[in-house]
Amino acid sequence: MTDNLTLSHLGFEVSDLAAWETFATQVLGLTVARRGADGAFSLRMDGHAQRLWITPGPRDDLSFVGFEVDDGAALEARVAHVQSMGVDVAWAEADEAAARDVARLARFKDLNGVQVELVCGAARATGPFASEALISRFVADDLGLGHVVMRARDRQQSVDFYAQALGFVLSDRITCEIGGYPVDITFMHAASGPGRLSRHHSLAFGEKLPKRLHHFMLEVAVLDDVGRAYDRTVDHRHRITQTIGRHPNDRMVSFYALTPSGFEFEYGWGGLQVNDEVWESTTYDHISEWGHRRPPYPRPRD
Ligand SMILES: [Fe+2]
Repeated sequence: MTDNLTLSHLGFEVSDLAAWETFATQVLGLTVARRGADGAFSLRMDGHAQRLWITPGPRDDLSFVGFEVDDGAALEARVAHVQSMGVDVAWAEADEAAARDVARLARFKDLNGVQVELVCGAARATGPFASEALISRFVADDLGLGHVVMRARDRQQSVDFYAQALGFVLSDRITCEIGGYPVDITFMHAASGPGRLSRHHSLAFGEKLPKRLHHFMLEVAVLDDVGRAYDRTVDHRHRITQTIGRHPNDRMVSFYALTPSGFEFEYGWGGLQVNDEVWESTTYDHISEWGHRRPPYPRPRD
């Protein structure tokens, strides 16, 4: 496949829509794009009209993960390829695609039961993104919205599936122990293609995680916006799970905290971008160069 593929959108099923709206806008710095009749809403972070879809429900977890390709021809070729693997892929009706604000939409389930949405022609916003919370901007647009670390029943099988189905490429692996618990995560990037760069990882997989989604990552253009987001996270009493630190593989300086749904978000700056022509994968025995400490106790709620 020579077309571009990016992580384009995510769906979260959440039990507390009001908490999510406050969190997404006042802590993350996203803006509400649209509202649905059932209280659902979508969020904007860049030139895309919508990036995150927040829908009501008891799951408090990832409901779908979306990838965008260049055009209809690329989408048809990719759907045919996934079908050739014996995967059941369904084209969405026109009204379903319109509801997602894309030209065309095809869906299939990955090995872990997560709904994957392949789209083309995702609507772009008419005006520039502006957030009162940010002094810079989110690093997204052509790089995709960020990354997700998902739960795999079998990590290697999931890695192989996304490599075969969507052309994802091994970035690297981290195996270590944190606080007596084994950590083993494999990181993958979308194939960059000649002369192009991809985010170091858009997908990563670990096993034995409590939810489908361990965390999603949003990247900002200046380090100060990470510090400011850290302040907002503390001020809004969201529990910090890892203090500010730097990862050895994608070089990201970031922190982690809990969303209102109990899975985590990572907020970072300075993530590496990779070119397949020169990229060599490796295995790290540590997950952080410095920082990413677990606070000794949760901050009490008021
Ligand atoms: Fe991450």
